[in-house]
Amino acid sequence: MTVSVGVPREVRDLERRVALVPDVVGALVGDGFEVLVEAGAGAAAHFADDGYVAAGARIVADGAALYAAADCVLKVAPPTGEELAHLRRGQVLVSFLDPLGDPEGMQALAATGTTALSMELVPRITRAQSMDALSSQATVAGYRAVLSAAAASPRFFPLLMTAAGTVSPAKVLVLGAGVAGLQAIATARRLGAVVTGFDVRPAVKEQVESLGARFLDLDLGASDTETAGGYAKELDADAHRREQEQLTKAIAASDVVVATALIPGRAAPVLITAEAVEAMRAGSVIVDLAAEAGGNCSLTVPGEVVERHGVTISGTLNLPSTMAQHASQLYAKNVQSLLRLLVPDGALVIDTDDEIVRESLVTMDGVVVNSRVAALVTEG
Ligand code: NAI
Repeated sequence: MTVSVGVPREVRDLERRVALVPDVVGALVGDGFEVLVEAGAGAAAHFADDGYVAAGARIVADGAALYAAADCVLKVAPPTGEELAHLRRGQVLVSFLDPLGDPEGMQALAATGTTALSMELVPRITRAQSMDALSSQATVAGYRAVLSAAAASPRFFPLLMTAAGTVSPAKVLVLGAGVAGLQAIATARRLGAVVTGFDVRPAVKEQVESLGARFLDLDLGASDTETAGGYAKELDADAHRREQEQLTKAIAASDVVVATALIPGRAAPVLITAEAVEAMRAGSVIVDLAAEAGGNCSLTVPGEVVERHGVTISGTLNLPSTMAQHASQLYAKNVQSLLRLLVPDGALVIDTDDEIVRESLVTMDGVVVNSRVAALVTEG
């Protein structure tokens, strides 16, 4: 039996991405999938319906009809209440779900009986690299953050030696050197800035330096800053205070700060205090990529660009969506790779013996099956 996958039009504000792009549709059709795309689903990412049709998809005019016809729904943003109403028992959903940030939402999703897999929970193991949507989208965000910082800055990024005088290069500080931070460092370097990077995970130092940036060595008095899975641990109060204090000087000396520090499932750590902002030169820029999780700067207003003490602070949300075409292209590849695992021989199989499937599965048969998410539901 042919497996049909359905791509609805994203309905959330600010969401311009689409779960499949025509190239990937073509590959899926070649693999024997039936692909249904809601009319206009790719429009905001500049993929027209015609392109999907040419790749072998069938356009469905109405969202409700699309959900009704698809065995597996492919989305970018977590479903809204209205979208939940379209989902049915046994139907498979693959999407970002924000499972650790919204455990109640996961309960509501479970109640639909949907078999939901979260792109955020795909484990960071070698075999799953091609499915790693957190990384693909963080790459977009890190790049875009630097471009928006450069656009907001009243200063040049590169060193310029002109007949009208010499302009010194911008000093850019990148806080958090995970996937987004490293891309931000690389992008700021390409623009000619003098870049410094910092992260609590010492393993990152070499990666920062290999991109031509300086690593900021801070004495936090904490040695155990990384989980076995390679994520940062939340610092204790003393180490966090030491970090804030020591960062204040480096922040004050920077023209641009790009902040990307996150702890999965927690509020973002505040690394840039109000005092640190006040100590910056007028005209400096902070781009806070952690705005979605509350922000790395205490003066960030999520979803807004504000000016405080002469410093522009951007809390723009969903940066990957502002580059919807390439962000969708990368995301669609991630989804395609995960689909290959779910449909190994022409039929949908949820094989919980497979680590990738087991870890990313959030709801099935009416319950929240992921233990981390289930624990949060109980706590709540
Ligand atoms: P993330 O988005 O969760 O966090 C961003 C960065 O913030 C991290 O580097 C983290 O160490 C840092 N951070 C947290 N608290 C901080 C603080 N108080 N001060 C300064 N920095 C702080 O991380 P992301 O980008 O998702 O990567 C997490 C880990 O996963 C990394 O070890 C990365 O190398 C690894 N990874 C592995 C992959 C694989 O093997 N397939 C693919 C992608 C990432």
